[in-house]
Amino acid sequence: MEKLDTPAYVINEKILAADMCLLRQIADQAGCRLLYSPKASSLAPVLTRVAEHVDGFACSSLFELRLVDKLCSVHGSLHLVSPLIDDAALDEFGDRLNSVTFNSLSQWQDLRPHVSASTSAGLRLNPELSFVHDPRYDPCRSNSKLGVPVSRLAEMIAADRGLLRGIDGLHFHSNCESTDFASLLATARHIQDVIPEALEEISWINLGGGYLFQSVEQSAAFFDTVALFRDGFDLQVYIEPGAAAVRRSGTVVATVRDIFPGEDCQIAVLDTSVNHMPEVLEFQFEPDVLGHVDDGVHTYSLAGCTCLAGDSFGQYAFDAPLTIGSQVTFMNMGAYSASKAHRFNGVALPTIYTRDETGSLEKIWADDFNEFARNAGKVGSPDIAPA
Ligand SMILES: Cc1ncc(COP(=O)(O)O)c(C=O)c1O
Repeated sequence: MEKLDTPAYVINEKILAADMCLLRQIADQAGCRLLYSPKASSLAPVLTRVAEHVDGFACSSLFELRLVDKLCSVHGSLHLVSPLIDDAALDEFGDRLNSVTFNSLSQWQDLRPHVSASTSAGLRLNPELSFVHDPRYDPCRSNSKLGVPVSRLAEMIAADRGLLRGIDGLHFHSNCESTDFASLLATARHIQDVIPEALEEISWINLGGGYLFQSVEQSAAFFDTVALFRDGFDLQVYIEPGAAAVRRSGTVVATVRDIFPGEDCQIAVLDTSVNHMPEVLEFQFEPDVLGHVDDGVHTYSLAGCTCLAGDSFGQYAFDAPLTIGSQVTFMNMGAYSASKAHRFNGVALPTIYTRDETGSLEKIWADDFNEFARNAGKVGSPDIAPA
């Protein structure tokens, strides 16, 4: 068993490079610009390595902008897109911000004076075509807060031909971890049908994230989507994937700390928690675990170490029994784990490691009590150091 402090986030640089190369290849072949959404993972080693492959970053906040700017010596263009744009971000980044996408016409009107002359302004659309079944993750749900409904935009443009004056681009993001680019193409065609005149007026369109790219061969409908906007309307097309870039390259490694009988299987308590992988609880899914076999004879409920009854990953089966000290590895945890993690119950955040192309591990960061105390509002205060 490999020696590492658990719980741990391990970033596999070989997988990250392979997935970034695939995204680069697909973007180049399609003729679109590739941005990365740091909301999926803003861990320092991820940002610096992703920066080598992208044309820029699509940040959601002032903190993300600052982090990319500070950590990545070469980061390409900087873009800001959020349901609520903060004027402080516009003021601080000024000319260095390549684009800002407003979520509503009211935000655009309010913040227009803060947009620098060389920053391109965009507007987020709600295409009103749903593909995500769970409304919690469907940007096109009814009464959605995300973007201007495309049908309403069409009516407003009909009433006021100058409505989009000053807006250079449109943006939509309407799916979640989908591998079906037919829905992206259907969305593009729908937008084309409803607001063709708006597409004639702008110079760029951003297709957002929400898709997992598997191979060039499986991306035909993606290429058609980019061509629809690029060739049909002469638009610069952007994509801003998050999960597609980082999901596969991140694992969470935990250690079994206690085992006792449950009703129909053993309970194995780990030194991690769903709070280190919050989407497990949010999405109610069972993450992939290395070594799990459907017909394994040794079955366990893998439980997190906090007081929440639902802090549990689900039932897993293995060929060999787990013992106290066994390591358990959660696969495909690179997206939305570290960026959503928290220290509920005072459980430390996982230690961050990178695994390089040769397989060797490097410890990058370890949580400690001072970080926990800083979050409690006691910045650098020696009076709360452990006795
Ligand atoms: C506007 C926008 N762009 C990009 C992304 C990244 O999406 P994903 O990680 O699914 O590719 C998101 C995710 O919520 C988003 O809201």
